[in-house]
Amino acid sequence: MKWTRKDLLGLEYLSKEELEFILATADSFKEVSTREIKKVPALRGKTVVNLFYEPSTRTRVSFEVAAKRLSADVINIAAETSSVKKGETLIDTGKNIQALKADIIVLRNSFSGSPFLLSRHVDISVINAGDGWHEHPTQALLDIFTLKEKFGRIEGLNVSIVGDIAHSRVARSNIWGLTKLGAKVTVCAPPMLIPYAIEEMGVRITHDIDEALYEADAVNVLRMQFERDQQNAFPEHIDYFRQYGITRERLDKAKNKNLIVMHPGPINRGIELASEVADCPQSVILEQVTNGIAVRMAVLFLVSQSENSQ
Ligand code: CP
Repeated sequence: MKWTRKDLLGLEYLSKEELEFILATADSFKEVSTREIKKVPALRGKTVVNLFYEPSTRTRVSFEVAAKRLSADVINIAAETSSVKKGETLIDTGKNIQALKADIIVLRNSFSGSPFLLSRHVDISVINAGDGWHEHPTQALLDIFTLKEKFGRIEGLNVSIVGDIAHSRVARSNIWGLTKLGAKVTVCAPPMLIPYAIEEMGVRITHDIDEALYEADAVNVLRMQFERDQQNAFPEHIDYFRQYGITRERLDKAKNKNLIVMHPGPINRGIELASEVADCPQSVILEQVTNGIAVRMAVLFLVSQSENSQ
């Protein structure tokens, strides 16, 4: 197929064919990171700006590594040390980055919808690196890529997403991507962490962690986002771990003894995930991080090839 989108704003808007095309492109880029000289000239002469208004380790570094492996020039802007602190708006910042002749803006922002707003005001490509509670498309793509690598397929897989679904952009992007590709998705959390009408996205809901794990081929464990708990509605750490924490004992009760454990990071050890599980052979958490490079290389490459990009 021919890629036509100048932006990657969310998985909700992509077709099954587009998702499969990104995954196949990522597959072809994965090998680059195994070379002695880990570089291809695909984005030589292009400039990628990482514009991050929220803290990030994995996503920001992964986009930077991916862009450099494609031979792009990379500029990192952290809102804390930029003119955002002097009151500059997102739109003005974006227009200035465009005036500086950048080609791609990778945006992380705590406001849901901010990449959509930015993309309407600039002609250069915008990639969503996480917007509020809304979407984190490249995280879901790397999760799906890792599942496909492990199982050889997505169609028919049972994937349980456990944890703070209510505040999770990772959950939403995974649900859009996995259901379009034919996986069966279960979400599991205490009732206050399950968003209203989430079943309309085609998922099954359970509040029973053992049930969520029993039929699963993979469990994607989400971080408890205590910083977003404005109403103090979350259970205490210790209660959450007792009721929903992924422990060795709980994993051993699952039907699939090769069930894989995923987590987008950062991990709260001893809250949503026991340390021994985070580090056990069933855990693919660091493989997810490695796969993020190939997935982000694919996304950067595809948006830069679009006829609509500058
Ligand atoms: N998974 C993820 O988005 O991690 P960071 O917040 O470190 O980028």
